[in-house]
Amino acid sequence: MQSGINYSEKIPNNVNLSEDKTLQRALEHWQPNYLNWWNDMGPESAMQDDVYLRTAVSVEPSGWAQFDHVKMPDYRWGIFMNPRDEARQINFGENKGDAAWQDVPGEHRANLRRIIVTQGDTEPASVEQQRHLGLTAPSMYDLRNLFQINVEEGRHLWAMVYLLHKHFGRDGREEADALLQRNSGDADNPRILGAFNEKTPDWLAFFMFTYFTDRDGKFQLCALAESAFDPLARTTKFMLTEEAHHMFVGESGIARVLSRTAAVMNELKTEDAAKIRAAGAIDLETIQRYLNFHFSVTIDLFGADESSNAAIFYNSGLKGRFEETKRDDDHRLQGQTYAVLSVVDGKLVDRHVPMLNGLNEVLRDDYIKDSIGGVGRWNKVLEKAGIAFRLSAPHKAFNRKIGALAGVKISPEGRLVSEVEWAVNEKNWLPTAEDRGFVSSLMGRVVEPGKFAGWIAPPTMGINRQPVDFDYVRFN
Ligand SMILES: [Fe+2]
Ligand SMILES: [Fe+2]
Repeated sequence: MQSGINYSEKIPNNVNLSEDKTLQRALEHWQPNYLNWWNDMGPESAMQDDVYLRTAVSVEPSGWAQFDHVKMPDYRWGIFMNPRDEARQINFGENKGDAAWQDVPGEHRANLRRIIVTQGDTEPASVEQQRHLGLTAPSMYDLRNLFQINVEEGRHLWAMVYLLHKHFGRDGREEADALLQRNSGDADNPRILGAFNEKTPDWLAFFMFTYFTDRDGKFQLCALAESAFDPLARTTKFMLTEEAHHMFVGESGIARVLSRTAAVMNELKTEDAAKIRAAGAIDLETIQRYLNFHFSVTIDLFGADESSNAAIFYNSGLKGRFEETKRDDDHRLQGQTYAVLSVVDGKLVDRHVPMLNGLNEVLRDDYIKDSIGGVGRWNKVLEKAGIAFRLSAPHKAFNRKIGALAGVKISPEGRLVSEVEWAVNEKNWLPTAEDRGFVSSLMGRVVEPGKFAGWIAPPTMGINRQPVDFDYVRFN
């Protein structure tokens, strides 16, 4: 297996695609449908612009990316996998110790297909959710980052489509077509998961999405990178290297918003949201409400707290835990338990369930730990600026729509509240139409090199060691 990527073929790849003519033809048949989807549903009014994008040239950890100005429809989407480790074994579940599978075992076919389709569906969904954002980019630097994320989510779709075409026959090809037919928020044919049918209407939402929801992607991909199905593991490992940049965009984006808000607060010597808004910055209370929304919607993506599918996926080796091989337990988990939350007699209490059935909750808790780290780093921005306000992640039972906590009314601090108390306080806890209206009133396109909208601070560094005022996008 070569690790370099062959760009001389119609579909760039490092999977020796030209050796399997039938597969190559099938994918070349899917390719124009993909490009049609990109043109219809991808970034709006930006198809002719030259964007400073990175493209994978190798899957080696050192120096896999090349940067150049390219038109997005000419981006070389392709199929890249980490190299195969011949000795790789299954590291968990009832087949632990067996050789990893190079093909799909018949008995796991339906479940594996479902896992791959569900992951694959999120990738084009986020491109659809973000397609209007280019029209209100706060800078050329941010515009470029948006487009980089968009083309890479498109490539992640390619990664899943390759697996479907190669390993799932006609069903796989039909699923690959359907991935281009469902659309985010479509009333008749929506995307599979709730958070991917929500709107990403403004850049504050975009940064929250890339921080929180792309991080869900990281945890799902990490769990799939442990899979006994080796091609899935190798594919998701390479996707993870791209995902890191998406989360960076979110984390640094929010940090820059906070930095600008703090500067305005210090300048005006005020904590008054109305005054901060009047000065064209986003008040910290609004940022907290956006955070509450994106955090709660995203943790629903991990699924029901108790799930027999989660147990089946783990037992049979399809989906592991985050950092499975770094854990020092037996990797079978039979007879072990895990605490999930439920409401008993008006109180939130721990309920111990078989750990195998609680694996969605295990992954959700790992995710929460990781995502709270960034909230702490955001608070450092406020602390350094001498601002007393602190952001916090809401309680994991807050605003849930999936699992045992769905519909239970819990405050961000984790207190069970009455319907009345919820109704009175919702406006303090979740973004209101008025908040969204205010944020959207700030959104205006700033695309002069080195200029930034008034509600966000410039980044400390440019992309690929280019200056901040580099012409990251050339408009045509
Ligand atoms: Fe992705
Ligand atoms: Fe992503």
